[in-house]
Amino acid sequence: MATLQEVLDNFQQFWELFFPEQHTLHREEVLTAIGDLERGGNCRAPDPEMAAYQNDVAGVYGAYEAVRYQLYTLRNLLESQQRGDLRPDQHLVSLGCGPASYELWLMMNQGPRRVTLVDHSPAMLARARSIAERLGVSERVTTIVSDATSSGLPPKSADWVFCLNGMHWSSNWRRWIYEAGRILKPGGTGYLSCTLKFPRSRIQRGDFEAAVQNRFGRGAEFDHVVPPRQIGEHVAFDMRYYAVVQMKVDSSRRKRR
Ligand SMILES: C[S@@+](CC[C@H](N)C(=O)[O-])C[C@H]1O[C@@H](n2cnc3c(N)ncnc32)[C@H](O)[C@@H]1O
Repeated sequence: MATLQEVLDNFQQFWELFFPEQHTLHREEVLTAIGDLERGGNCRAPDPEMAAYQNDVAGVYGAYEAVRYQLYTLRNLLESQQRGDLRPDQHLVSLGCGPASYELWLMMNQGPRRVTLVDHSPAMLARARSIAERLGVSERVTTIVSDATSSGLPPKSADWVFCLNGMHWSSNWRRWIYEAGRILKPGGTGYLSCTLKFPRSRIQRGDFEAAVQNRFGRGAEFDHVVPPRQIGEHVAFDMRYYAVVQMKVDSSRRKRR
């Protein structure tokens, strides 16, 4: 059986193959070119208007996103997967999926049989579809261009729901958490993560925890994707925060069985 390090190395090779611009483009130049601050994080436009900016991000995603964050997130996902047991016959829904690096890699590595990807950026989903085609799994991937909170997916239709680092783009972030709960089957598992204190949403750790517990109960598990690092008086990287949740099994249904 592969060690965790071998698995992460495999994911890094996947990331390098499908997001090669990380080596050809310079991150700072990319952020300037797409107007990362004024059109992105600091922009006050309503959510639907942000899709144009995200379309530009899609083409340079490998340079925009640091691989170490992807690796930290995957490590956490794999740990929660072991606890939640993401089996090959299952259906995974991902809200704010971007180009779906984790979801498609998982499909190739004993992950879910069926994946539904929701994002309001057509270019992000086009990139995900092109990777899925190259991997030969596109028939098992559905893409939905939509706001994360109004995909029209049926209730209780997913064994797993991911909201990976997307909800902080929305002032409506609490509705993402609500929507994850709506889509999850009883007993299903959700992995929700966000960047704390991001200007468009200013999610505070306590508010995130309260919203998650309000939807999923007190059993949720919280931690940082990237362990916080103390530098002098300051805590750096108090950034990506996640929750692993389990959708409660309806007790009246349990009794009827
Ligand atoms: C930082 S990317 C994260 C992508 C991916 N989940 C990952 O972790 O690599 C955020 C994604 O959320 C999407 N997004 C932001 N606001 C959205 C909204 N209101 N509805 C749907 N998708 C949204 C963006 O288009 C983008 O693809």
